[in-house]
Amino acid sequence: MGKEPMTNIPAPAEIVEVRQVSGDTALFRLRFWDEGTGHGFTFVPGQFVQVSVPAAGEAPFSPLSPPRSDGTLDLCVRKAGHVTSRLHKAREGAMVGIRGPFGTGFPVAEMMGKDVLLLAGGLGIVPLHSLLWHLLEQRDAYASITLMYGATEPSALLLREEMTALACRRDMRLMLTVDFSAEEWTAEPACNIGLLPDLLRGSPIAADNCYAIVCGPPALYRCIIGELQGLGFSDQRILLSLERRMKCGVGRCAHCAVGQMLCCIDGPVFRLSNLKDVEGAL
Ligand SMILES: Cc1cc2nc3c(=O)[nH]c(=O)nc-3n(C[C@H](O)[C@H](O)[C@H](O)COP(=O)(O)OP(=O)(O)OC[C@H]3O[C@@H](n4cnc5c(N)ncnc54)[C@H](O)[C@@H]3O)c2cc1C
Ligand code: FES
Repeated sequence: MGKEPMTNIPAPAEIVEVRQVSGDTALFRLRFWDEGTGHGFTFVPGQFVQVSVPAAGEAPFSPLSPPRSDGTLDLCVRKAGHVTSRLHKAREGAMVGIRGPFGTGFPVAEMMGKDVLLLAGGLGIVPLHSLLWHLLEQRDAYASITLMYGATEPSALLLREEMTALACRRDMRLMLTVDFSAEEWTAEPACNIGLLPDLLRGSPIAADNCYAIVCGPPALYRCIIGELQGLGFSDQRILLSLERRMKCGVGRCAHCAVGQMLCCIDGPVFRLSNLKDVEGAL
């Protein structure tokens, strides 16, 4: 699943578009300043980049977009603290630095010919959106594709317009859910009210030819893994993307330890079978 980083020196990139996608989360489209770097920049969905924001510092983010050949890269960033708040203040024309890509990606080659079930909770939609579009761009290489995406409430559901378009596609299945909604849900796309594991429990997913890819907050992992195992998924075919505090991103500082492993090198994408006996991993 791994891939060597393209570079450890930040490549300058310009913010060419900023779009608010929820109260605290915005989409940033970046264009590499140097055409050669930009057009050569590629990654496997699930890998991450380190983004440096002038006068603020550096933070890891997963690409929202699939690998592109036009020198652009989309990020979807929630305002959390110092670096992300500074990024949210940046407007079109501002510059950032990009190191990477780093870490392991999703096993896109191994999954060829198989059903793929994507389970995203909250901001976990970001790397799974990149993966989804990568799979859709090579649609014939995969069997069925299902995205189940859950958010706490309607206003936290990201990329609503795009979800409406995805819901109309015949070559994939989209299932949305929100934990609660103060009002009756009448808008498009159709959305269930309840938790993501409940959505999974009620759906006709056959595990025998399927990979399950999960990305979301720790609480999601704890409740969804049992459901997947109950459906017959083997631990080899349950892939999880973990989030840890990171500093160097390249295996030098040990800030991101997951037991004896490092999230920035051995992850962020792990098989459940590799995490089972690792205390504190999930
Ligand atoms: C592989 C990876 C991919 C990521 N992808 C995305 C993404 O696509 N979009 C996005 O918005 N965020 C993503 N994150 C999280 C993002 O890196 C953090 O929100 C960011 O580093 C916070 O930096 P800050 O300086 O703004 O916050 P700080 O000022 O450093 O901290 C603010 C608060 O956030 C908490 N925090 C900081 N980093 C993390 C972390 N890694 N995990 C949990 N809590 C943290 C701190 O404990 C503190 O409470 C990703 C993290 C990793 C490791
Ligand atoms: S972030 Fe430094 S070792 Fe992983």
